[in-house]
Amino acid sequence: MAVTRVALVSGGNRGIGLEIARQIARRGILVVIGSRDVEKGQAAAQTIIDEGYPAEVVRLDITDGNSVAAAVEEIALRHGRIDILVNNAAILIDGPGGFKSSLFELKADTARKTFETNVLGPLRLTQAVVPIMERNAYGRIVNLSSGAGQLSDMRSGFPAYRMSKTALNALTRITAAELASTNIKVNAVCPGWVRTDMGGAEAERPVEIGAETPVWLATLPENGPTGGFFRDKRPIPW
Ligand SMILES: NC(=O)c1ccc[n+]([C@@H]2O[C@H](COP(=O)([O-])OP(=O)(O)OC[C@H]3O[C@@H](n4cnc5c(N)ncnc54)[C@H](OP(=O)(O)O)[C@@H]3O)[C@@H](O)[C@H]2O)c1
Repeated sequence: MAVTRVALVSGGNRGIGLEIARQIARRGILVVIGSRDVEKGQAAAQTIIDEGYPAEVVRLDITDGNSVAAAVEEIALRHGRIDILVNNAAILIDGPGGFKSSLFELKADTARKTFETNVLGPLRLTQAVVPIMERNAYGRIVNLSSGAGQLSDMRSGFPAYRMSKTALNALTRITAAELASTNIKVNAVCPGWVRTDMGGAEAERPVEIGAETPVWLATLPENGPTGGFFRDKRPIPW
């Protein structure tokens, strides 16, 4: 009997995360939307259910270790598996000034909060989910990074966000290295500049395009890559 794969998408209640959840569900995979506000998560899941695909919700605040543990345990109890983890949830709180925000005005608290969500959140989820993936000898982990985290193109603006995404890229490489001998593939992705609450109304891409490469990485075949950084399904420099 074919295995029904189960995917967890953090921050799946809106933006790119919701579209990733939708596109994963359309591939016949049971998607669980991780949302810190369960009602918002349920409203998001309903839009997928209305299309005729199953979608579930779990309460998930990635800054809270207890919440991460409880969410992962709940999915494991419901389904006995988590095959795909999309570390999508993140915050961008640099400012004011956006691209002009200077490192010299960055408050330690802003950097700390950013790292708590954008780096430690994915670390917590990865640590909680990988033992379940190992038990089932299958896993795909996708870390939503950003061109803003590329050391090869590092520049000014959004300093806390940039540093957090560079650290997320390091987390991706380390996780992939530790899991190299397993069937768990770990990759980072830049979705491009996408029209969401974070990306803003001026962004060039709709969520449908932004979600394509994350979903491709979430559903890689056995001979797919691991430990890479991708945009538009092509490797990009770290
Ligand atoms: N948009 C872009 O142009 C762009 C470009 C490059 C990379 N990215 C990356 O793509 C990913 C998605 O971005 P987006 O534009 O869709 O962002 P978004 O519209 O701001 O949505 C962020 C999502 O993360 C959730 N979230 C934030 N903190 C959380 C926490 N502590 N626990 C659980 N969920 C939390 C939010 O939940 P609430 O609704 O509860 O706040 C929301 O669902 C992020 O990793 C982002 O860095 C985006």
